[in-house]
Amino acid sequence: MRHLIDVTDLTVQEIDQLILKAEDIIAHPARYQDVAAHKQLATLFFEPSTRTRLSFESAMLSLGGSVLGFSSAASSSTAKGETVTDTVRTVSCYVDIIAMRHPKEGAPFAASRRSSVPIINAGDGGHNHPTQTLTDLLTIHRERGNISDFTIGFCGDLKFGRTVHSLVNALSRYTGIRFLFISPEELRMPEYIKENTLQRNGLGYEETESLEEAMPQLDVLYMTRVQKERFFNEADYIRLKDTYVLDPAKLESAKKDLCILHPLPRVNEIHVAVDDDPRARYFEQVRNGKFIRMALIMMLLGLDA
Ligand code: NCD
Repeated sequence: MRHLIDVTDLTVQEIDQLILKAEDIIAHPARYQDVAAHKQLATLFFEPSTRTRLSFESAMLSLGGSVLGFSSAASSSTAKGETVTDTVRTVSCYVDIIAMRHPKEGAPFAASRRSSVPIINAGDGGHNHPTQTLTDLLTIHRERGNISDFTIGFCGDLKFGRTVHSLVNALSRYTGIRFLFISPEELRMPEYIKENTLQRNGLGYEETESLEEAMPQLDVLYMTRVQKERFFNEADYIRLKDTYVLDPAKLESAKKDLCILHPLPRVNEIHVAVDDDPRARYFEQVRNGKFIRMALIMMLLGLDA
């Protein structure tokens, strides 16, 4: 039995297979509509979510399976003091696969040790978010035709942004990727990622506070929200939240084929006027999230069309 807790639980070859499978599902959705008939997915969300939870549910329903779960800790026995491992052990008696999101780093890993069914990490605190990364990789693949030889700028909250951590980890295993980290001093990429994921593998990166300076160099711009819920102090959040606001004027110096991504939700960091720019691909990214999750559920349940 396999879980997906961290992107490194998948080999690059497996990630590439998932991308190809998702492309096939996009091309031939009807072929997959009964693949997971009689299978059940539980979504256990101890933290808010729109896209991740609903895309998992939509993915399972589109495979002919069914879904159950909860969308807040308050509506589960967590509110009575139950541990996350007991909750998961319980739910694994009812379903075939579980997607869970939790505010504590490592909670899905701990849960996976006591689960009798596959656990998918749908985001753990400021740590990892591997299925968003699969979504991002599928989007880059569809937009650029492959996942190699480009410059990607990560902009915003690189300290607490779990989607950024997982995507850097995944991209460090592909070739020819140049990393530019654009953030205020206080929200820089954590040292453990720079050291363990990049330096140790002989990969370079550059850090800057200036989105304007970085812009003309970028093939992919990955914008992120400042992660309000991970701040200890509200004054710091208020001071930092609008550091970067992408607007049409800032895009004037960008490449004509730039690909603008954002895991969403956005707050202020991308002006709505950018949405009509053909380089804005974040709603396409949302669409892709469902298909890669269909491919992942099939893989973890050992199903095929
Ligand atoms: C992200 C998350 O939850 O980490 N959202 C998502 O899953 N698409 C990003 C965020 O909340 O800023």
